[in-house]
Amino acid sequence: MQSNFSYQTHDYFNFVFTDDGSVGLYNNIVGDIYHSKFGARTEAEEKFIKPLNFHKNFFKKKELNVLDICYGIGYNTKAFLNKILKLKYKGKVSIDILEYDKNLVLISPFINDSYFKTSPDISYILINLLMDEIFNNKEEVMEILYKSDNKKFIEPFYRRLIKKYEKTEYSYNPVSQNKAFLHNIYYHYISQRKKRYLKLPKIENFYVRTYFDDARASIKSLNKEYDIIFLDAFTPAKLPTLWSLDFFEELFKHSSEDCLLVTYSNSAAVRHAMIEAGYFVGKIFDNKKHPCGTIASKNKLLIENKLDEYDLGLLKTSAGVYYKDSGLKNSSQEILEEYSQRRKLLNLESSSQYIKRNKRS
Ligand SMILES: C[S@@+](CC[C@H](N)C(=O)[O-])C[C@H]1O[C@@H](n2cnc3c(N)ncnc32)[C@H](O)[C@@H]1O
Repeated sequence: MQSNFSYQTHDYFNFVFTDDGSVGLYNNIVGDIYHSKFGARTEAEEKFIKPLNFHKNFFKKKELNVLDICYGIGYNTKAFLNKILKLKYKGKVSIDILEYDKNLVLISPFINDSYFKTSPDISYILINLLMDEIFNNKEEVMEILYKSDNKKFIEPFYRRLIKKYEKTEYSYNPVSQNKAFLHNIYYHYISQRKKRYLKLPKIENFYVRTYFDDARASIKSLNKEYDIIFLDAFTPAKLPTLWSLDFFEELFKHSSEDCLLVTYSNSAAVRHAMIEAGYFVGKIFDNKKHPCGTIASKNKLLIENKLDEYDLGLLKTSAGVYYKDSGLKNSSQEILEEYSQRRKLLNLESSSQYIKRNKRS
């Protein structure tokens, strides 16, 4: 399996503050943002969590399997944890993280994500579940968290916490004791601040597994069905690898009957690929009623805003030509070349002609 990812240092990304105060990233190599400039946290809540309609669709289930594809620094998982903690969901939650950049996943609990003041439990859960891997990769994690340019992007409390941990690490071995140590000072601090004893979330109800590889390889190795799938890859035109018909067919095999797959993409090519893979597909709207993503399920009753005649017509134009990735092993360049040749041969009406024609009629 070819992975396009072989960066040695972390200079390929920069931290940035987004408009809602949460920290996002910019990738210098792909030339793409990881998060909306309007707000990394807000984007996750609006585009990935709200459309799930969690209370109606999932609250009564005793167990949930969640697949977070392209976890990055974890906003979708964090927003999801925030939602279920707020709703006091009692079931067991298992989250599989597919992300080829290990560093991002391991620094994710420490980022200034604007959840710390209101929902410190989110990072508490993630630190607990990722602790072994953080410990095993502590040099790289520390380097990122302690780089002076990065200081303002890391939650100050976590910088102090991790420093304390670094200083005492030799006296806190094995890893299980490190976990206990972090847990103790973390809760000591939070409880003091809140001037009351905090009820800990039951860690045994949460389970996280990380797959640090190309998501196309990871998905093949998984033999689970998921109830919720977040797909948050870079834009299709830049990195088509996770938007192909072949990838959606693989996701379809891993979707439970009532699974909801959500993504920020409104692309006609992406929606067409989802339909070809077997999903029922609908639109996601933001607070201002602008379309801001796509939702898919095997169960058509779960799709609230179905694609209308106009949207379906758009799928038949050149904009609706989807990507193919036979064997899930081609490079982005190979996928884009095959795509543009096929698009040329199909010679379909352009989307702009279609839009004009529909305006006229
Ligand atoms: C748009 S960002 C996702 C942001 C993320 N959801 C967050 O909350 O921070 C895309 C992510 O996909 C990862 N990625 C891109 N291609 C991938 C692939 N083929 N397999 C696994 N991860 C990939 C990148 O490392 C990056 O973190």
